[in-house]
Amino acid sequence: MKTIIEPFKIKSVEPIRFTTPEERHKILVDAGYNPFLIHADDVLIDLLTDSGTSAMSAQQWAGIMLGDESYAGSKSFYNFESVVKKITGLKYIIPTHQGRAAEKILFSILGGPGKYFPNNTHFDTTRANIEFTGAEADDFLNEIGKHPEIKADFKGDIDLEALEAFIKQKGAANIPLVMLTVTNNSGGGQPVSMHNIRETKKLCKKYGLPLFIDACRFAENAYFIKKREPGYAERTVLSIAQEMFSYCDGATMSAKKDGLVNIGGFLALNDEQLALNCRNLLIVTEGFPTYGGLAGRDLEAMAIGLEEVLDEHYLQYRIRSVEYLGERLVAAGVPIIEPPGGHAIYIDAKKFLSHVPPHQYPGQSIVCALYETGGVRSVEIGSVMFGKYAGDGSLISPPMELVRMAIPRRVYTQSHVDYLLEVILDVFKFRESLGGYRITYEAPMLRHFTARFEPI
Ligand code: F0G
Repeated sequence: MKTIIEPFKIKSVEPIRFTTPEERHKILVDAGYNPFLIHADDVLIDLLTDSGTSAMSAQQWAGIMLGDESYAGSKSFYNFESVVKKITGLKYIIPTHQGRAAEKILFSILGGPGKYFPNNTHFDTTRANIEFTGAEADDFLNEIGKHPEIKADFKGDIDLEALEAFIKQKGAANIPLVMLTVTNNSGGGQPVSMHNIRETKKLCKKYGLPLFIDACRFAENAYFIKKREPGYAERTVLSIAQEMFSYCDGATMSAKKDGLVNIGGFLALNDEQLALNCRNLLIVTEGFPTYGGLAGRDLEAMAIGLEEVLDEHYLQYRIRSVEYLGERLVAAGVPIIEPPGGHAIYIDAKKFLSHVPPHQYPGQSIVCALYETGGVRSVEIGSVMFGKYAGDGSLISPPMELVRMAIPRRVYTQSHVDYLLEVILDVFKFRESLGGYRITYEAPMLRHFTARFEPI
């Protein structure tokens, strides 16, 4: 087989700025050791997120010029709506400016004290939007997904036994919906199998519960199903995605991921009354139902991006470039979640820095070292992002301490990936000299965005 190449040529380039390790040290100190607070100009390779960081295609930029900016009934809305309907088969398509806006609307209507929302693993904004209403967000990741070292095909699957026990315990009446996040971002970008989606639907049906999909990375999930699940190898990614959505009653989507756009999202529903309530709230908070907080040109770019993302040459290159990075890290002994997920490499910080305990934030320490060493920006997904305090003030850590290096779509080439590899291996070499951190400032919610740290 020949080398898998980037399935595009580059028409427009954006220079990146080189800095010295000394400059980066000062930048890091000024940012309170939190890469979210660093100016993007000071970053060489930005792997903070794969969200909103995609390079758009010439076709999408052309679509931007064709965007219809009518307040109501924009042609671009109808283009967007028909693509989303084609992929999801869902009836009511509500555009929002990004994923969390869809979540905010959905959970404001369905949430509230005494309500429970199970998921394989809630992403942080999903959890925050649920908890903001006074409801509870509950994770039921399959046991295998909790072990970074175990290689398995579908580590994003939900634990159906635990889910059923939970439904019985809390009562179906208190569970407005069950959610599946595909791929499972917080659990390592791991895919959910079609089998698991189908069985989750069966279980939901048994208890009369709607199933929702958090669809941010639906195309990557569909591609994994094609490659790994028996019976899907000959199917198109589109038809696999259609089958995934056929089991759900609604979906939230941040199109900033698999929509290949810089901004946009949607809420898609089958329930007419719920759609009506959501649209009413949308009008108050986002905008008229045919633009939902977006410009017509954004809707046009999303309509095109949602089609382009299903191209199998694109998905092959996408999944392979992440896998390539993962393979080389594993070969060098760097502990990562295996196999690599779709959009990111997750370093297992507990193993990488086994001498730094969770309450000293080993992930944050690696994040800082990657930046200082090579200008690479990554993000901690562990005790900083998900840590909570017990009554006595001690930290309750999540099961995993991870560092995520999310790969923007269509932005970096193979040589960027090779450079990245060199930086990670450098840090790995001097890992024993790295220490822990303490938090000097934190906000009451989503603290990782604005927290400040100091080395211990
Ligand atoms: N759900 C999942 C699984 C996500 O990964 C995200 C965003 C959202 C919902 C919210 O979407 O950002 O458009 O409001 N994840 C980004 C990330 C921020 O870096 O993983 P949003």
